[in-house]
Amino acid sequence: MPGADAARTGATVTRLALASLTTLKVGGEAEVWTCETDAAVRDATRADFRVLGGGSNLLVGDGGVPERVVRLGRAYADARALDATGDAWLGAALPLPGLVRRARQLGLSGLEGVLGIPAQLGGAVVMNAGTRFGEIGDTLQEVELMLDGRVERVPAADLGLGYRRSALPPGAVVLRARLRLTPSTPERVARAEEAVDAARRGQPKARSAGCAFKNPPGDAAGRLIDAAGLKGLRVGGAMIAHEHANFVVNLGDATAAHVVELLENVRAAVAVPLEVEWRRWGLAGGEPAARGWDRPRAEPRSATAGG
Ligand code: FAD
Ligand code: EPU
Repeated sequence: MPGADAARTGATVTRLALASLTTLKVGGEAEVWTCETDAAVRDATRADFRVLGGGSNLLVGDGGVPERVVRLGRAYADARALDATGDAWLGAALPLPGLVRRARQLGLSGLEGVLGIPAQLGGAVVMNAGTRFGEIGDTLQEVELMLDGRVERVPAADLGLGYRRSALPPGAVVLRARLRLTPSTPERVARAEEAVDAARRGQPKARSAGCAFKNPPGDAAGRLIDAAGLKGLRVGGAMIAHEHANFVVNLGDATAAHVVELLENVRAAVAVPLEVEWRRWGLAGGEPAARGWDRPRAEPRSATAGG
């Protein structure tokens, strides 16, 4: 009963097309729970759920998802706790671009490498977002998670951070992250950002979810896809970008089915196996939903199937 839970905790529950909450702008509907308090997150995660951050690394199927989609609201997006000391607990819905800007203004170094990444802080932790100039994990000290209805602190060293990966416990919602930045000067930070900005200049401005594939060891997926002559390859409204071959852009009317078929065509044409970087929801082989903590643990398998 979403209405009852929402009334009790202050979560806002709306049925929405997830296309409107993702940067690629594809994906069907789900019941979206926007939470402004830890109590609301706790209630929202009673039943099976998924967590949405900035939606910038997500491909959602055209049929949407049957589970609740939990989002952290504005109460988790305040950057003011970051001061000149550089050591701060910050809400997981904080958009990275604003955080990077504030760090530069305060003359704090450590986030230059994540310049231009349109993530929320929580999603950046889960993906260990970054570039070859630095990752969010470089500055991360610890996180506060909602896990099985309880708030827990976990040191960054226990999060299994690697190239575009983390090993958070299944069903964990990142509520807050503690970062430690290094005092420097705005001028030095701006200078360090120039190299990152230059590396991003060749990336498309059209709607996308960033790079579609992880780079295979010792090579670049973009180079391989380009060398296979696939720039401009199209399925419906989805196209391999002319600017950078590892970006799939939505020309305006792409569906998830178009994007999936395009990815399959790319994999078939490139000899080196390519691993999709995006999290995929409501699609074959995609990310499974997290189990709600309030489900009876001992219920028979047949009664839980299909979640
Ligand atoms: P989402 O896409 O919303 O979610 C990603 C995953 O994180 C999902 O599994 C979701 O369930 C989980 N998640 C999100 N928030 C939480 C939370 N609070 N608690 C628990 N789980 C959560 N990535 C890079 O690494 N480097 C780049 O240079 C880069 N450039 C990009 C450029 C563009 C134009 C775009 C569109 C994307 C780019 N990306 C890049 C990809 C993307 O921004 C990152 O993967 C980012 O970390 C995703 O964060 P998000 O908040 O959007 O997460
Ligand atoms: N290349 C081509 N053709 C292309 C694209 C790239 O030949 O169409 C070649 C380049 O010339 C270069 C190599 O491939 O020799 C690597 O390209 P680039 O420097 O653009 O970096 P990348 O490996 O493609 C990575 C990240 C990006 C990140 C940039 C900047 C991955 C999968 N991608 O791109 O991250 O922004 O470096 O540091 O690791 C993302 O993860 O979503 C993302 C955008």
